[in-house]
Amino acid sequence: MKIIVIGATGTIGKAVAEALTARHEVVRVSRSGPLKVDLEDAGSLARLFETVKDVDAVVCCAGSAAFKPLLQLTDSDFQIGLRSKLMGQVNLVRAAAQHLRDGGSITLTSGVLAHEPMPGGAAISLVNAALEGFVTGAAIELPRGLRVNVVSPPWITETLVALKMDPKGGIPAAACAKAYVAAVEGKEQGQTIDARKHAGA
Ligand SMILES: NC(=O)c1ccc[n+]([C@@H]2O[C@H](COP(=O)([O-])OP(=O)(O)OC[C@H]3O[C@@H](n4cnc5c(N)ncnc54)[C@H](OP(=O)(O)O)[C@@H]3O)[C@@H](O)[C@H]2O)c1
Repeated sequence: MKIIVIGATGTIGKAVAEALTARHEVVRVSRSGPLKVDLEDAGSLARLFETVKDVDAVVCCAGSAAFKPLLQLTDSDFQIGLRSKLMGQVNLVRAAAQHLRDGGSITLTSGVLAHEPMPGGAAISLVNAALEGFVTGAAIELPRGLRVNVVSPPWITETLVALKMDPKGGIPAAACAKAYVAAVEGKEQGQTIDARKHAGA
């Protein structure tokens, strides 16, 4: 398969791109590098599919949202998550639906904060849960046998280490990548895939 990985230089995206490379042709993109895309710019998403043709699958491991105590979150803090992680990935589905090959797949990223909250995470919980709802609804309307799913990663060990937090309870990025591979290579449709369920596989 020919697969675009958005966010392929990031902690999760790098591991996903590496895992997929074993069996597929992987096109790595982000806001930097030779092939640029910005989730916040719908035009750049359309241009991506005009530049890279005959794509079977797109995986998004990108998207920002503010991490801040609830009562300190400003309107613009909320807008970060709505514009980037939420509508960026929604617009990716809208663009991909026009361009992917028949039977292709779209895999998005939410996160465990949708259902397992922590202080400071409300704006992230908001967009993660919205993405999971969107995928449930979008899946039943996608044409041409296209599939859409969302992977929900837990904390990633490398991220916890970088943040100087206790890495216990996280899973390595390489283990998380298995859920994305399963979403791309499997038959799931409209599902939220808990990456912990695939981590030991
Ligand atoms: N790491 C965790 O513990 C964890 C846990 C749960 C959920 N998640 C979610 O997983 C996703 C990836 O997390 P991560 O930790 O791997 O992030 P990361 O290490 O910060 O990497 C983000 C990647 O996305 C790209 N990117 C950022 N903004 C972009 C945009 N607007 N358009 C296109 N590409 C963009 C970055 O490259 P450029 O800067 O070059 O664009 C980079 O390749 C995020 O949505 C995060 O909320 C992460």
